[in-house]
Amino acid sequence: MKRARVIGTGSYLPEKILTNFDLEKMVDTNNEWIIARTGIEQRRIAADSENTSDLATKAAERALEMAGIGAEEIDLIVVGTITGDYPWPATACIVQNNLGAKNAYAYDVSAACSGFVYALSNATDFLEAGRGQKALVIGSEILSRVIDWSDRNTCVLFGDGAGAVVLDLQEGEAGVLSTHMHSDGSYLELLYQPGFSTRNLPTPEAIADPQNYTLKMQGNEVFKVAVRSLTEVSKEALAANKLSHKDVDLFIPHQANRRILEATAKRLKLTDEQCFINVNKYGNTSGATIPIAMDEAYRQGLLKEGSLVLMAAFGGGFTWGSVLLRW
Ligand code: COA
Repeated sequence: MKRARVIGTGSYLPEKILTNFDLEKMVDTNNEWIIARTGIEQRRIAADSENTSDLATKAAERALEMAGIGAEEIDLIVVGTITGDYPWPATACIVQNNLGAKNAYAYDVSAACSGFVYALSNATDFLEAGRGQKALVIGSEILSRVIDWSDRNTCVLFGDGAGAVVLDLQEGEAGVLSTHMHSDGSYLELLYQPGFSTRNLPTPEAIADPQNYTLKMQGNEVFKVAVRSLTEVSKEALAANKLSHKDVDLFIPHQANRRILEATAKRLKLTDEQCFINVNKYGNTSGATIPIAMDEAYRQGLLKEGSLVLMAAFGGGFTWGSVLLRW
């Protein structure tokens, strides 16, 4: 059977580091509170000159380099992002042009923090349907530009970054084993960004009030649904493949915050050694957390041929999903 196999990973994190101590000077918060409630110690912030497509392009170049292929070999580019360069065209089209991937068609997926797993699921379906040989799947975000930096409830949680994987359709046991995606639009108001679009026009009055375009979240409600959904969708992936939690070599969950990850891992009966956590270094980079984590895990030697990797994400929409793959 042919499967979509990961043959390259790459990530890019902007240089600027914003620590909890820096945040102490900006809002009424402190390092101890942030670490105790979220596990986050610092996050990266994109330079003014950097766009989401630039972060995505750098991550993609590293993934292509590891795969040892040229950009013209890519048939499809999907970018999971909610902070794209423009409302349209897709950031993926900008990345395609930056890379010179002239044989690829390109589009974005808007699924908030589940953007990468949705994109990975799309690209897997595309390859398995025989529509192409290679795909580039990217998660890239500049959340620092849609955060209310005066709101301590949200500004401590998020960061900027990008990660990418190259998929190649190959015969054998390695590759994506299954994907399971879900949405529930009834939860919209618990986690969303009003922004300026057809529903909310940029009148001078609206522009004057940041409440009209910054991220909104009801943290504890999101927390409960996130843990439940991440657990259920992870179990769904294992059950569909007749595998158990003991078979998982590495669990790479969306890095929202340490407490969500630990509560999910506990419900899944996973040990600390089975769980990859780097939220302490980058905070929540939304659609970018999983590919950044996958790239770090690979480069740390945690992913070897035959490793069973379980990914699960949850985000605004609500959206959630899991991908199980054999490395
Ligand atoms: N520093 C200090 N105090 C803070 C704070 C901060 N950065 N942010 C909130 N607080 C305060 C609140 O104002 C509240 O004070 P009050 O009791 O005087 O009103 C108190 O801490 C407790 O707030 P609460 O919201 O109940 O805290 P919590 O334990 O739920 O933790 C989150 C808050 C945001 C860390 C937690 O709800 C969470 O992780 N939610 C999920 C968020 C997430 O990951 N979203 C993305 C999903 S993809």
